[in-house]
Amino acid sequence: MRHLVANIATYTIAALLILGSALFAWMRSSQLVLSDEYATLARYEPTPEHDFEWREVGEHAYASNCRNCHGREGLGWDQYPGLTDTARLFAAPGGREYLVELHLHGLTSPRWGAPMPSMGHMQDVELAAVLNHVLTHFGNTPPTGARLYVPADIAALRGPKRSPWEVNALRPGGDARAAEQGAPRRQE
Ligand code: HEC
Repeated sequence: MRHLVANIATYTIAALLILGSALFAWMRSSQLVLSDEYATLARYEPTPEHDFEWREVGEHAYASNCRNCHGREGLGWDQYPGLTDTARLFAAPGGREYLVELHLHGLTSPRWGAPMPSMGHMQDVELAAVLNHVLTHFGNTPPTGARLYVPADIAALRGPKRSPWEVNALRPGGDARAAEQGAPRRQE
């Protein structure tokens, strides 16, 4: 009799453990669907029904991919430039493409002591969103009537790898600004 009770207890515990792990596995797998990056990001893509919903993605992408170097308020620090001048670059001839290229391939210039790493691993949705985020924050105002980025703008510029120095040559005004201000320019 004692054996029977002990066996029932053992089987009950075993059954509960199996049930518990099955429940856990089920929860994990449904969570996995929720956090699938492609699927989640695709929801923000522009469609005929709604515009590109970039605000939330842009804020999130900035915090996880840019903030460490460019700062919470986009002011930069040490070797890392501030992003307070990005709307001016965007408005200059070739600036719209330059901003995308520097994200796809990285940037090395004589202006700063550190390179900007390539952000090409980020999805088109994230890159378009983070650029729009920068262009509307940190004191930047995009030119009136300017069309902000959509994911297709990023996709259109993905192509053969460029060197970060080549990207620097695409910068509107080249190094003129650094020359004006005495290169290498550092932000205190
Ligand atoms: C590891 C540090 C680092 C990260 C992360 C980083 N950057 Fe940069 N970024 C730099 C550095 C350094 C430069 C300047 C490079 C140079 O001129 O040689 C730069 C340059 C830039 C410029 C161009 C400034 C100009 O005057 O031409 C923009 C715009 C920019 N970053 C935006 C971003 C955004 C948006 C992100 C996130 C998606 C990001 N960066 C992530 C370090 C970083």
